[in-house]
Amino acid sequence: MDDRAEGIIKRFSAASVISALKDTPAVMVIGPRQCGKTTLARELIHGERPYLTLDDKTTRLAAQTDPTGMVRDLDRAIIDEVQLAPDLLRAIKESIDNDRRPGRFLLTGSANILTLPKISESLAGRMEIVTLLPLSRAEIRGQRPAFLQNALAGQLAKSAEKMIGADLIRAVLTGGYPEMLDRARPDRRSAWARSYIQAIVQRDVHEIVEIDKLNYVPRLLQVLAHHSAQLTNFTKIGGQVGLDDKTTRAYLGILEQVFLIKRVEPWFNDRLSRLVKTPKLHFLDSGLLAAILGATTERVTANRSIFGPLLETFVMSEIMKQFGWLDDSCTLSHYRDKDKNEVDFVIENAAGDVVGIDVKSAASVSGSDFKGLKKLADATGTAFQLGVVLYDGDLSLPFGDRMYAAPVSCLWGNELQTSPRMYAACPLGSDSSWTETTPRCTLPRPPTIARECEARARYACISDACPCLSEVKRRKPGKRCLRPMASRCQIRLPRIYVELLLVGCN
Ligand SMILES: Nc1ncnc2c1ncn2[C@@H]1O[C@H](COP(=O)(O)OP(=O)(O)O)[C@@H](O)[C@H]1O
Ligand SMILES: [Mg+2]
Repeated sequence: MDDRAEGIIKRFSAASVISALKDTPAVMVIGPRQCGKTTLARELIHGERPYLTLDDKTTRLAAQTDPTGMVRDLDRAIIDEVQLAPDLLRAIKESIDNDRRPGRFLLTGSANILTLPKISESLAGRMEIVTLLPLSRAEIRGQRPAFLQNALAGQLAKSAEKMIGADLIRAVLTGGYPEMLDRARPDRRSAWARSYIQAIVQRDVHEIVEIDKLNYVPRLLQVLAHHSAQLTNFTKIGGQVGLDDKTTRAYLGILEQVFLIKRVEPWFNDRLSRLVKTPKLHFLDSGLLAAILGATTERVTANRSIFGPLLETFVMSEIMKQFGWLDDSCTLSHYRDKDKNEVDFVIENAAGDVVGIDVKSAASVSGSDFKGLKKLADATGTAFQLGVVLYDGDLSLPFGDRMYAAPVSCLWGNELQTSPRMYAACPLGSDSSWTETTPRCTLPRPPTIARECEARARYACISDACPCLSEVKRRKPGKRCLRPMASRCQIRLPRIYVELLLVGCN
């Protein structure tokens, strides 16, 4: 796909579709309704292929009545919304078995019917699946992100843009659907989101299964929204709606199939006995979640506790989007042990490298925010590459061995962080005594720090980007340091620390 179509944002998944079409008979783009599947498919093909959509009643009827007949006359075609006639996939399989040329079918589907074992087995080896989610911040900016790739190699990407406070709230409440991004007014966005959800429930959910209690689904979504990012208690959720445990599980499965929610499994290690084994539930788009919760900028600003789960959803969807662009295949889970230590997201690649991400909706971070990440680091040992607390501030700071606090916008950063710098001063603060303390920490002495810290404070950690050296405050001996890292440092640290006020850096 090129950039010529006006107003069309380049999709990074396009490359995966193009390369799959070159060596696989069928490629299926799956993802939620309105995320941009048809636009992507049509952009890629530029009108060179016949285009059929099962959203069209007559076409759908033909596909349902005589799937073999429909496929017989087709070659190098785009077929949109194939979940509406699952039998068509069987016919496509037969057609592929007779003619295995690559690139014969480009399909799209707004429901993950491939979770149905029969379908996924029959198409194994014949069809490649590309998941397309709503637009990511990286796509909106037009630059491929380097966050996950670098994190899995133990490095932190640099924040892509300054997005904190009200800007971050706006991005989270808007989410990634193009139609939401196009609407300037928040009330218009939530009107769109509400009618979108209604359409999904009444049409797609209904099309997938004969669901006998369809009118329970909107209420179920409401309850789920209030449990978003929490450990899933199926009985409790079902109880609030009037559904039994089994039906609740089945309905959640359907909502997952239509890409409204995502179940995040617990991280598991059979050598550790104190892990909690309950999944968490997330919405897949923070804009939709915000609409269901009735979260507005005013409400979120007045009550930050509403913002936490929304920000977590936003972070999860940004991570999920990047999964699709990595060569590596990664899994997403959450960590929780019986002592209530938690890590919101654990990412593991095929080689077993582990990255932990915690989300904090506040503008400051302290050492205690790394408790869960440190547990995860202990549990995974050398596999642990990086632990990051993403927060609503614009400063990246190291917080110990392989641990960082970083702005949420690091997630879509496309460059590496220049090393956070650490300055150490000898008691007399002479120039020569400012030492390069770790391979990551090189710098001559900054005069402001020297003056500020000369006699008493011996140690300060600042980010390259921090504009507020003047915010350096003295800490009394024995008080907790903002960043008691130094495990990689070669000097012995004095016990008097200087703290940077993160809030002051905004
Ligand atoms: N890459 C894109 N850039 C900008 N807008 C897009 C893009 N992809 C889709 N849209 C817009 O989003 C809406 C839904 O797109 P569509 O391709 O029909 O989604 P789907 O086929 O997944 O339901 C349309 O209004 C479309 O113009
Ligand atoms: Mg479509």
